Amino acid sequence: MDGFASLQKCIERLVRIKCSNYKEDYIKRRILSRMRLTNTEDYEAYQKYLLTHPEEIDLLRKALTINVTKFFRDPDVFEVIQQKILPDLARHKKLIRIWCAGCATGEEPYSIAILAHELMALHRDLNVTIYATDIDTEALQKAMAGIYDLKALENVDKHRIRRHFISRDDGTFEVCPHLRELVKFRQHDLMSGVPVARYLDIVVCRNVTIYFTEKQKNELTYLFHTALSTDGYYVMGKTEYLGREVEHLFTPYSAVQKILRKAT
Ligand SMILES: C[S@@+](CC[C@H](N)C(=O)[O-])C[C@H]1O[C@@H](n2cnc3c(N)ncnc32)[C@H](O)[C@@H]1O
Repeated sequence: MDGFASLQKCIERLVRIKCSNYKEDYIKRRILSRMRLTNTEDYEAYQKYLLTHPEEIDLLRKALTINVTKFFRDPDVFEVIQQKILPDLARHKKLIRIWCAGCATGEEPYSIAILAHELMALHRDLNVTIYATDIDTEALQKAMAGIYDLKALENVDKHRIRRHFISRDDGTFEVCPHLRELVKFRQHDLMSGVPVARYLDIVVCRNVTIYFTEKQKNELTYLFHTALSTDGYYVMGKTEYLGREVEHLFTPYSAVQKILRKAT
């Protein structure tokens, strides 16, 4: 077994991330960045380092699961969700169920919670549940704490900040309980093959599969298809696309925003 293969096995055991499901290029780039920071020269040396420095396990996990996100990232996507998808669902449903998969530190599910809360003010008998999941427990802890600095909120208008956040003495902002009530955070590995729920109306999974192999992406598309109700919506990241093998599972809904609808 070569140095990289042996390191991958070691990472799977210690970090519990299956490297072969991610693009090799991506995994190598992330490992190389850790090698630079730990002054290790090759994969063998880095594996030794990983085995003898328990703190490196978490640092590597963080490097492999980059959590970059912000509130209303790609505002036009949220416009379509707010103006078209949610009102359409509210017209014939009393409960809307959404899965925000790969939610990182929570900005994305709370953005959807803001839209849901505003919709619920117009439909008094409507309930919304947002399942927000990620593989990274540290990111989820931050999500559950729900405290953000102004940078994360740069796409949130002042009116919404006043309505949905509590301003803290240290200059940060805490999400209001009425948003927290709508979001259920849970640790979940998208490669586990098991959906977090079924009969969902919307799956939002953005900027997560860019690191996955084609095979893993296709499997995930099958998983989302199974998890969605008839006509359910799948919101992808703007640079993401469906593989040929799974194209038939969805039909385009809003092409520029990469929003699809479940085909029968
Ligand atoms: C770049 S963030 C995307 C955050 C948010 N969806 C957005 O677009 O702003 C990617 C997230 O995917 C998560 N992730 C990576 N692999 C995963 C897996 N196998 N299962 C669940 N989450 C995963 C990472 O932990 C990270 O938080």
